Amino acid sequence: MNLFNVYPLFNINPVKAKGSFLWDDKGEKYLDFYGGHAVISIGHNHPYYQEKLRDQLEKISFYSNSVQNELQTELASKLGEISGYEDYDLFLCNSGAEANENALKLASFHNGKSKVLYFSGSFHGRTSAAVSVTDNPKIVAPVNYSERFIKSEWNNVEQLEEVFRTQGDSISSVIIEGIQGVGGIMIPTPEFLSRIKELCDQYNAILILDEVQSGYGRTGYFFAHQEFGIQPDIITTAKGMGNGFPIGGVLIHPKFEASHGLLGTTFGGNHLACAAAIAVLDVIRDESLIDNAEHMGSYIEKEIEDLPHIISIRRKGLMIGIELDRDCAEVRKSLLYDHHIFTGNSNDKTVLRILPALNIRKEETNLFIDALREVLTKL
Ligand SMILES: Cc1ncc(COP(=O)(O)O)c(C=O)c1O
Repeated sequence: MNLFNVYPLFNINPVKAKGSFLWDDKGEKYLDFYGGHAVISIGHNHPYYQEKLRDQLEKISFYSNSVQNELQTELASKLGEISGYEDYDLFLCNSGAEANENALKLASFHNGKSKVLYFSGSFHGRTSAAVSVTDNPKIVAPVNYSERFIKSEWNNVEQLEEVFRTQGDSISSVIIEGIQGVGGIMIPTPEFLSRIKELCDQYNAILILDEVQSGYGRTGYFFAHQEFGIQPDIITTAKGMGNGFPIGGVLIHPKFEASHGLLGTTFGGNHLACAAAIAVLDVIRDESLIDNAEHMGSYIEKEIEDLPHIISIRRKGLMIGIELDRDCAEVRKSLLYDHHIFTGNSNDKTVLRILPALNIRKEETNLFIDALREVLTKL
């Protein structure tokens, strides 16, 4: 059997990882400045994370959601504490798309309405409703398309108001990323976010903040939206939550009423996934990684802002978009093959996306800064 060929692959085969470094099968060392799409939050194979997972493996790794699981309650309690959303409930699942799928469904169960408003440049995942609110026609199959999903322009308050004026009564929810990642590190204006919140309240629509990429301390706040002082009804999370172990979560305002069977999943919240997610939160707290994200992010920004061919830098914490005056593909390739540094791209071909682990060290950021300087100077 062959693999279904959907991923363009670099010709690199990593077999070992530690902190912010990877090693391939030939023993070559690479700096990970992308964290496998923002997934590696506390660094590869953090010793505390390894210990917690090993311990759990010795005890029990899985049973279904039909029994008590104290790890789930410990995770919920720690997540509430670190995020400040102590009065919210947590539903555990396996991925970002699944978290968004459940959020959209929950909103619709709650208010009985069926339309969803999303924004240009969005990415919310590849499952049914999640892909329908993703602004990329290439990945939306005919079966996913429906006029119930309404697109409005990013950061455009006037258009937002017009959509609510004409269709507000049938809008069940609005879904928005804390910061658009796949869209090219696009930061919402405070006016845009607060107007969305006001209109949601006015029209009895649910505000869903997708923090799958921008959450978990990456932006110097636990959730990116917390910088703007708005409070969503539902928050979704995944990527950095398990540091590579698949887990997603939906944080749910107390006004939502749970009932048995309303949501569900076979694997979500299993013992191993919870052990991984608890270890991540412990390390974020104990090693002050939210502060480190902002500290290291601002250092990188200052060091690279005057380099040639950079048009602008969009950044919060360690969520960094470097806009170049050209397609960033050649720059990425040179960083990877000449300097052994992984970086990311985005739907905006000119934007180099940087998402390193939150515990990246200054000497590691300097490797990236020096390499980028050399590559951009040679262009
Ligand atoms: C903002 C956002 N939401 C949702 C998803 C989907 O997450 P997953 O790939 O875990 O389904 C992603 C993945 O890139 C994302 O960036």
